Amino acid sequence: MRTLVKNIKELVGVETSPKQRKEGREMSVLETVKDAYLVIEDGKVRAFGEMKDLKEESADCVVDATGRLVFPSFCDSHTHLVYANSREHEFVDKIRGLSYEEIAKRGGGILNSAKATAAASENELYDMAQRRLEEVMRLGTGAIEIKSGYGLSTESELKLLRVIRRLKENSPLTIKSNFLGAHGIPMEYRGHQEDYVDLVINEMIPKVAAEGLADFIDVFCDQGFFTVEDTARILEAGIKYGMKPKIHANEMAVSGGVQVGVKYGAISVDHLEQMGDAEIECLKGTETMPTILPGCAFFLNLPLSPARRMIDAGLPVAMASDYNPGTSPSGNMQLILSMACIRYRLTPEEAFNATTLNTAYAMGVSDQLGSMAVGKKANFYITKPIPSYEYMPYAYGENKVERVFLNGKEV
Ligand code: NIG
Ligand code: FE
Repeated sequence: MRTLVKNIKELVGVETSPKQRKEGREMSVLETVKDAYLVIEDGKVRAFGEMKDLKEESADCVVDATGRLVFPSFCDSHTHLVYANSREHEFVDKIRGLSYEEIAKRGGGILNSAKATAAASENELYDMAQRRLEEVMRLGTGAIEIKSGYGLSTESELKLLRVIRRLKENSPLTIKSNFLGAHGIPMEYRGHQEDYVDLVINEMIPKVAAEGLADFIDVFCDQGFFTVEDTARILEAGIKYGMKPKIHANEMAVSGGVQVGVKYGAISVDHLEQMGDAEIECLKGTETMPTILPGCAFFLNLPLSPARRMIDAGLPVAMASDYNPGTSPSGNMQLILSMACIRYRLTPEEAFNATTLNTAYAMGVSDQLGSMAVGKKANFYITKPIPSYEYMPYAYGENKVERVFLNGKEV
């Protein structure tokens, strides 16, 4: 099956010599081809170039993209989109003055979602998650990482991970699963949370591994949640079972999360609202992708992660949605792209790299996704008629995506 997309006003995010990720100054490099064509064969990018050089127009399917731009799909490397209930009542509590941590201390927050998730069946959770996945796919996301973490018991965590496995089997999106048993401390473990950590290590991890349910292992390493010691123990246990660390760090406080993540070779450390110089230094020269979650900082009114400082210090930066019911009830990566520019002062070029190639790296798929390069998976979208690529982050709140192609097929 061969598809030709022709008359593309601008094909954005192409790579002639593909990189696994972009860091520092490289983040401002965004290759494009104006008045372009794109050839897809068997689900992969076969060729692209300028229309004037197009030799052969024969294809099973020809798409005319006159006036439209083509982009590689967004990769969303941090979501919690399998959950049962929305939490708008807590949203109102926050407006009235309660903090996220205060709500959590009272048994709200993550525990509120865990209660609703425990009561829901696997089929119900699947249907809800499937609808959310469909919605983000229409907005331009082509690959996504999904965490468990609203179970907090062995049975419920396995239920969530089985839902993610079914999504992987049935969805055209590329999906990676992340076991986040250490997301919150259940009420009955308050005051002796090391017993909950033992449960995660001795019971949950072996069962999750036995069913092959998780690509990654995550811990919410932060003030009021799991300590650096808890995190180290859990990551060590996960690594033994072949799960790669990818953790929540430094949302509430300078928690030591960045350092413990780097120590255990985390593929990414995420949130990073609280970053000192030591954290930036510690990330230099490592394999770990610093990942910022602009939707969460927006929704909770948190201080902004110092993205500009990190890039200027030569680090790579990725930006993901954190789609979840408590701190970021949206998986719209077009909005994340706008926030990257407006709130974090990334240039549009840096923002595209932060939400495509670098997030692909942060979920371990940048050899197949995150840019338009020959041999990569053909996951891309065609915009509505728009004037330029800068219009994408500029026109926040508007859906600019018209047609979506995943694995070379229109969905
Ligand atoms: O990434 N910070 C920890 N976990 C989620 C929020 C979970 C929730 O409040 O339901 C996050 O923001
Ligand atoms: Fe999160």
